[in-house]
Amino acid sequence: MAPYAKPREVTSLDDCYFYHSMDIPGHGFVRGPWDHRDGVDAYLGNVPLQAKRVLEVGTASGFFCYEMEQRGAEVVSYDLSDDYSWDVVPYAQYDHESFDAERRAHLRQINNAWWLAHSAHDSKAKVVYGTVYEIPEEIGRVEVATFGNVLRHVRDPFLALEKALRLTTETAIVTENPSLRYSLPQMVMEPLKPSMAFLPNHEKVQPRESWWHFTPGIIRKMLGVLGFEDTKVNYHLHRWEGQRTLLFTVVGRRTRPLPNND
Ligand SMILES: C[S@@+](CC[C@H](N)C(=O)[O-])C[C@H]1O[C@@H](n2cnc3c(N)ncnc32)[C@H](O)[C@@H]1O
Repeated sequence: MAPYAKPREVTSLDDCYFYHSMDIPGHGFVRGPWDHRDGVDAYLGNVPLQAKRVLEVGTASGFFCYEMEQRGAEVVSYDLSDDYSWDVVPYAQYDHESFDAERRAHLRQINNAWWLAHSAHDSKAKVVYGTVYEIPEEIGRVEVATFGNVLRHVRDPFLALEKALRLTTETAIVTENPSLRYSLPQMVMEPLKPSMAFLPNHEKVQPRESWWHFTPGIIRKMLGVLGFEDTKVNYHLHRWEGQRTLLFTVVGRRTRPLPNND
């Protein structure tokens, strides 16, 4: 049996943190830092989702979960809860344990937002809580796995992909933020040299909750190693705190058999 989380009753917006700007039936519009409302299909690589079982890794407040359901998908969302530690950067220069405690309180509010929206949408989606490194096999096979702006937050992005894609029979969808302010030279060199960059800077002690910047090419290489050799990339604009922000999505199609998970 998959370890689906027990439903949580959340009725007040005050108990929630919305990472996404969302229209919630019965509650109206709630503003979050990311507004993807005009770009859902591009963010999801324009992959048809009708009748697909989808593992959505890192759902946050669930905007894409409910959008995918509206497109006919059966969604299993996955995320941290306040029982788990964020993969924080363990700088020697600050008290990362107290930062971890702050993150857990924040996670509780994000999970609450997912549950409030779940009931408002009358959703059938399920959620499993845990770290990306422990995605349980009991979830079973899915046709599609999505990683929307998750990999930058984990110290071992390849292991995270491997754990989800061992369950995924058809398509991997990975969306990332190329963060041009960190990485313009890297992006320019991208056709010659796919790469990833280590973001933590000990002099600034920032960022604390992110590790990597990726070019699309490095994601394609990782997907290729995991048996998703047929890849394509699309770029799209979204709003972060009102600013237009460029993101990219890599869609990988499985070209090799599933690994033997026994
Ligand atoms: C930046 S948000 C992206 C939300 C959503 N996927 C999207 O595309 O808008 C990152 C999500 O990944 C989750 N996450 C971060 N680190 C994680 C980890 N180590 N294990 C599982 N989930 C993680 C966060 O809790 C959050 O929901």
